[in-house]
Amino acid sequence: MKKRSCVILASTGTVGQRLVYMLSQHPWFDIVDIAASKRSAGLKYKERLKDSWHLDVDIPEEIAEMKIKLTEPNEVEKADIAFSALPSKEAKQLELDFAKAGYFIQSKASAHRQDRDVPLIIPELNADHLELVKLQRDTKWSGAIVTDPNCTTVGLAMVLKPIYDEFGIKSVIANTWQAISGSGIPGVPGLLINDNVIPFIAGEEEKVESEVLKILGNLEKDSIINAGFPIASTCTRVPVTDGHFETLYINTKEKIEDIQKVEKILGDFKGIPEFLKYKENLTYAPKDPIIVRKEINRPQPRLDRLAGTVPGMAISVGRIRKGVDNSSINLCLISHNTIRGAAGASLLGAEMAIMKNYI
Ligand SMILES: NC(=O)c1ccc[n+]([C@@H]2O[C@H](COP(=O)([O-])OP(=O)(O)OC[C@H]3O[C@@H](n4cnc5c(N)ncnc54)[C@H](OP(=O)(O)O)[C@@H]3O)[C@@H](O)[C@H]2O)c1
Repeated sequence: MKKRSCVILASTGTVGQRLVYMLSQHPWFDIVDIAASKRSAGLKYKERLKDSWHLDVDIPEEIAEMKIKLTEPNEVEKADIAFSALPSKEAKQLELDFAKAGYFIQSKASAHRQDRDVPLIIPELNADHLELVKLQRDTKWSGAIVTDPNCTTVGLAMVLKPIYDEFGIKSVIANTWQAISGSGIPGVPGLLINDNVIPFIAGEEEKVESEVLKILGNLEKDSIINAGFPIASTCTRVPVTDGHFETLYINTKEKIEDIQKVEKILGDFKGIPEFLKYKENLTYAPKDPIIVRKEINRPQPRLDRLAGTVPGMAISVGRIRKGVDNSSINLCLISHNTIRGAAGASLLGAEMAIMKNYI
């Protein structure tokens, strides 16, 4: 495998730090530059993060000494890929600038997720949507913008996909208990979140509802036709460090005679055929993207967020049971918000784009 050069935009944030660590360990990528805002530009990475590095491993030595650049295409090294963990407002223009300058952008920001020609990718569910990169290159630029979903969307979409394909879906009610690392650095002050539940996360419910429908949609000609069922969600913040907990109530089109069939469909799910063609070459793809727990008290953030063959990349599901009738399902899930929901999603997405020769 030829190594791909990469730069990390917003390398100092919660997601950026994970990207720095995970990319530095990954044999396919070479980090040639790191960038952030003008508050950080010019400082050595270890100097800038001496009080705010949040991972329980040290800053990789080769990155610790690197100087942080300003986030502009003419300030950072040329590279095959720009991994972007920019805030959405800043990503709006900056990601366009990088795509015009020829970078393949793998983005965690929401800014372009709903653009008509921008794929919103969970490789196991819609690797075929990457075709939209060709359209961008035919019409706009030599680079590309590919987006990863919101951290809360990932677990929800992953679990809905096999159910949608097997039974059809009439509607979904989703409630979430989201970890504090999801709000970035400095995030929610300790005094406000300890011993508490914050019942509102700005923009989160709208993102979750619209993103799931795009991801489960079909690529037709040069756009995505969204899946067509309603989702109602309530997103809350709780004092958990990492790992979003969600409960789903799913009304299906088909009757469900046997709830064990639902467990089996979820546990057996490996991904769409387009994903399976490449799966064995993808180092960030867990063997089982969905792990079904049978115990009555699982999944839990502390016990299950790092489950699976690639820690943090599998979704754990449990308490699968009937709802009020024979066409409804109740369940809960855990997904690691800064790995499967952020940096790990970007790595798996970039691996898939490399396998499909877009990078
Ligand atoms: N945290 C999660 O679990 C999670 C999951 C999925 C998606 N996301 C998304 O990922 C992105 C990053 O989230 P985060 O939690 O890592 O945020 P964060 O901890 O607040 O970090 C923000 C980052 O953006 C940089 N930045 C801010 N203004 C900038 C500017 N004008 N130009 C260039 N860089 C700028 C900051 O650099 P300085 O240090 O120089 O200020 C910092 O590196 C957001 O779009 C978020 O919605 C986060």
